[in-house]
Amino acid sequence: MKSRARAPTKVTLFGEHSVVYGFPAIVFSLPIYVEVNAEKHGKTSILTGPANLRTVDLVLSDNSIEVGESTKKYLLRYISYIKKSLELVKVEGVKIEIKSPLPVGAGLGTSAAVAVGTIAALAALKGIELDKEEIAKKAWTVEKEVQGRASPMDTAASALGGILWLERVEDEWRIERLTALEIKLVIGVFEKQKTTAELVQDVAARLERSYIYKEVIKVMGDIAREARKALENGDWTYLGELMNLNHSMLEALGVVNKEIALAVHAARVAGALGAKLSGAGSGGAVVALADDPTPVAAALKVVGAKDVFVVNKPSRGVEVNIF
Ligand code: PMV
Repeated sequence: MKSRARAPTKVTLFGEHSVVYGFPAIVFSLPIYVEVNAEKHGKTSILTGPANLRTVDLVLSDNSIEVGESTKKYLLRYISYIKKSLELVKVEGVKIEIKSPLPVGAGLGTSAAVAVGTIAALAALKGIELDKEEIAKKAWTVEKEVQGRASPMDTAASALGGILWLERVEDEWRIERLTALEIKLVIGVFEKQKTTAELVQDVAARLERSYIYKEVIKVMGDIAREARKALENGDWTYLGELMNLNHSMLEALGVVNKEIALAVHAARVAGALGAKLSGAGSGGAVVALADDPTPVAAALKVVGAKDVFVVNKPSRGVEVNIF
């Protein structure tokens, strides 16, 4: 028996970082999927695709090739998403194969999709029926354990699909599905220079250093509230302005590197109604709202995007099959 799960990635339209502190965020589940195949096997083994290793650190001697510390650290973190999912669903002796069109750590929720897909595929293999909410909850546990601190945003977007509103109200996360007219998004993927966990910690350090950063985070919450209205009313001009405002706040938090700053500017010059960083930052992804996606996509390529996607409709969440 084999199982296959397709878990979508996501783009954050509003509220990355501020969502970690309970402020509202809007996330769009992308119809770009991580595929997880699982089958019973004598030994537990993992076959995996892109793990976003910028450089591979190898130590050579006469008789052996050893994996160096930096590569080991990165790979271990990535494999931890799969290992923790295995521990949670409690499966032994399984072969897991992961195929992803995007590298992990691209700022598009690939690690959350790996957790969601692995949990869904393993549960199906074990004959356990988990609904999408339960998959989202388990995958969030995995993210929190690997990352140290994480909002339920990425795992909810991958498991549930759609366009979601997330907000913490009196210690409870409220997750709502938003309805919007067809939206034209252009997404550019750039090299990420730090991990999400490091960036979340950098922001936490700033918040401790000065109250002014807490004000920035609060304003991000206000921007997301305005954005919800603009999105539901189909007011693309205002939504674009709000994306630009959200990007300025992310710059204020110090998570926008030069490459992303340039890409956001290039998208706007090419006619985007708004453009911003998506995800934790220091590279990663740029999301732009455009009436005409073609010149915006071309501009993102010119400034070095490795991949560019044009997206109109969100995914419907994780799908799983047994065969
Ligand atoms: O860059 P990504 O896709 O890992 O997104 C991280 C989003 C944060 O808000 C920075 C962290 C979180 O857990 O919500």
